[in-house]
Order: sequence, then C-alpha cells, then structure tokens
Amino acid sequence: MKKKQMSLTKKSVCLFTIISFLLVPLISLADKQDQKILIVYYSRSGNTKLICETLQKNLDAAAFEVKDKEDRSGTLGFLGAAYDVILDRHTTIEPGKIDLSPYSHIIIASPVWNWKLSTPIHTLLETHNFTGKKVFLVTTANIDIKKYEAFGNEAPFVKRFLKDYLRGKKKDSQSFAKGNGGEFLGHYHFATQEKTSEQIVEDALKVIDKIRKQLSS
Ligand SMILES: Cc1cc2nc3c(=O)[nH]c(=O)nc-3n(C[C@H](O)[C@H](O)[C@H](O)COP(=O)(O)O)c2cc1C
Repeated sequence: MKKKQMSLTKKSVCLFTIISFLLVPLISLADKQDQKILIVYYSRSGNTKLICETLQKNLDAAAFEVKDKEDRSGTLGFLGAAYDVILDRHTTIEPGKIDLSPYSHIIIASPVWNWKLSTPIHTLLETHNFTGKKVFLVTTANIDIKKYEAFGNEAPFVKRFLKDYLRGKKKDSQSFAKGNGGEFLGHYHFATQEKTSEQIVEDALKVIDKIRKQLSS
C-alpha cells in the first residue's frame, strides 16, 4: 500500500515537471505577444531621434516624437533650453496628450540637459499617467555617465539623479513616480559626442538585445 502511494507521488511529481517544462515557453510566448511597446521621445538636434528610430525598427515598437512649442534652435534656443532646465520650468509640448492606453511598455527617451531630463520630457512626465505601464528610460548626452565614476561618491550623480527622479525623491517628479508611477524597468544611456550618425545607430544596434531582455523582465 505504502509502495503504491510512493509511486503515485513520484508519478505526480514527474507529471508536474513535464507540464511545467511544456508551459514555460508557452507562457513567455504569451508575454511577448502581450507586449506593446511605445517609444516616446524628444530630440532637439537629432541624436535621440536616430536612436529611437533604430530601437523602433528592431523592437517592433511604435514611436512618437514629442515636439516643443518653444523654438530651441541655434544659440538662443540652446540658451533658452539651458535656462528652462536649470529653473526646472515646464514647456508646451505637442501634442499635449499622448494616448498611452494601447501600450504595456513605454520607452521614454530624452537628451540630457544640464544633467537633467530635457524640459519637454520633464513636462511629458508631469502630464501623463503611467500607472500600470512598464517604463524604460533612454538618455543621450555628450559624454558617457561612466566617465564620472573616477570622481568617487559624487561621480555617478546622473545615475542617482535619474533613479531619484523615477522614484519620486525629486520634488518635480512626484506625480510621475507616485500618482503617475509606472513600474521602472531600467535605463540605458548613450554618449553622442563626436559620433557620426552611423556610429550612433551602431551603438543603438549593439544594445537592442539587452533592452529587449530588460523589457521582458
Ligand atoms: C541645453 C542643453 C544642455 C545640455 N547639457 C548636457 C550635459 O549636462 N551633459 C552632456 O554630456 N551633454 C549635454 N548636452 C548635450 C546633449 O545632451 C547631447 O548632445 C544629446 O545627445 C542631444 O540629443 P538630441 O540631438 O536628441 O537633442 C546638452 C545640450 C543642451 C541643448
């Protein structure tokens, strides 16, 4: 009788293991099919746009370029951008509202301005609700964040800033991380200084698999 019970337990364990093995690929396939990615980006001079277009093609995503009503071109535009970002000001973005509802995953991409997210993306974060969304952040700047690591604790301040920003520790991001808080999946940074368009696209292609993995996590 005991022997019979033992073999029944063994059989159930075997059956459970086989079913689990069969189900795992099916579940991850279903996950992928449920994944609808939207890339929302702002780009003043084209670097972030180039990266986002590359990501869009390779991640099978939709993409949306946010436009700033302020003229940011030329030296005056640069100075205005620097001034606005230093003062944590907002701007008028077009369109004012993006329908995020069809998407499960939102990639937000921004150039870094004065070691903050650009003003149009700052406004986007404040005016959209990311609840229930999985959010991934992409930034571009002249230099690589890692270059600051040589400066000790003060060094990776950009990384810390972005983390704080997304976790709502910064005053101006409270609505994003608390009320509008999506689930933060990760961040990837691209250094763009002195790079040709081809090199920027190459850099983006190199990390497609990494980003894809992080999106599925
Ligand atoms: C107002 C302003 C401030 C910037 N501040 C920084 C900075 O703090 N650190 C940096 O490495 N690059 C900085 N940059 C450079 C941009 O982040 C970089 O060129 C970026 O790739 C531009 O992206 P875009 O072409 O999509 O606009 C700044 C650019 C502007 C316009």
